[in-house]
Amino acid sequence: MTGQAAAGIRLRRPDEADHAALVSQIDEWWGGRKLHWYLPRLWFQHFTGTSWVAEDESGRPVGFLVGFVSPDQPGVGYIHMAGTDPNVRRTGLGRRLYERFFDDMRERGIRRVTAVTWPGNRTSVAFHRAMGFEPTDGAGTQNLYGTPAYPDYDAEGDDRVVFSRDL
Ligand SMILES: CC(C)(COP(=O)(O)OP(=O)(O)OC[C@H]1O[C@@H](n2cnc3c(N)ncnc32)[C@H](O)[C@@H]1OP(=O)(O)O)[C@@H](O)C(=O)NCCC(=O)NCCS
Repeated sequence: MTGQAAAGIRLRRPDEADHAALVSQIDEWWGGRKLHWYLPRLWFQHFTGTSWVAEDESGRPVGFLVGFVSPDQPGVGYIHMAGTDPNVRRTGLGRRLYERFFDDMRERGIRRVTAVTWPGNRTSVAFHRAMGFEPTDGAGTQNLYGTPAYPDYDAEGDDRVVFSRDL
């Protein structure tokens, strides 16, 4: 997709109807990893006020971000999942989605944003670093795929990088 076509992409709040369209695509967007279970419908029922969908000029979803304000850590926003269609990558859409979420958080007085990713997902690690996130380092972390990460963070074998940045 050209930069001009990417410029025609608009961001809006998701609704429940977006779930089916997105969940059917994300395994492909994640390079064949089976990740659709990570995006249940509840995200499009209960978190739409702090989430975003990007759609092209024909109304087709080409990106999304689902996140929320932490109920237990009121100064913290959390990005659960974000992705863009491979045909529109490296055109700044991921950045636009994150910046909209940052604006949502600033409006709510949030001063810190966290996000978790798999250390072997080098694109995600590079993207988060480019977006100003730093991996949590220190006790409990190991260097995994070149990034400080927590082994077995979510389950045995489910290692995670815990990224955060101040707003
Ligand atoms: C990660 C992802 C959301 C990035 O989306 P995107 O629309 O390509 O992001 P942008 O175009 O806004 O990129 C912003 C910056 O991130 C960095 N970046 C993005 N993709 C990168 C890559 N493949 N390699 C290295 N750096 C990359 C670059 O610094 C880029 O800026 P630049 O293009 O000016 O150099 C997208 O690749 C994706 O959906 N991947 C699969 C799903 C996933 O891993 N999601 C994240 C974990 S939930």
